[in-house]
Amino acid sequence: MDVKLIHIPKVHDVRGSLAVIEGDCIPFKIARVYYLFDVPSDAYRGGHAHKEQQSLILALSGSFEVVVNNGSKNERYLLNKPNIGLYIPTGVWREIENFSSGAVCLVLASTNYDENEYIRDYDTFLSSKQS
Ligand code: TYD
Repeated sequence: MDVKLIHIPKVHDVRGSLAVIEGDCIPFKIARVYYLFDVPSDAYRGGHAHKEQQSLILALSGSFEVVVNNGSKNERYLLNKPNIGLYIPTGVWREIENFSSGAVCLVLASTNYDENEYIRDYDTFLSSKQS
């Protein structure tokens, strides 16, 4: 699976840490940024794949788990560091769960929001992988 963790370069000194995403740091141009917050611990987010969109998911605060599936295998990632993001290429089913209290999930996306570009039905997703 081409899903991978990406370390965001950071500058650290006694005043704290600063992480910066620019240039070739991530493998796509950012078209949109959105974030999830005030998420109940038993909430389940995601549950879809994309026909075009690539994403980078970051735990800006707190932690959560991302389960990814490429149609043939599952992988589970715990995100709990603001400078380590999970890159998800197009055509990968993702689910996000087990949010800690105060977790903030930042998503950098390669496309503008377009509901037609989503695959929200798991069987449809699996069929798209077989064709
Ligand atoms: P949804 O895709 O269910 O969120 P998640 O993937 O985190 O579970 O989106 C929730 C709602 O927000 C849904 O009505 C679509 C809307 N939405 C936008 O209007 N713009 C956006 O950029 C996104 C990501 C979602």
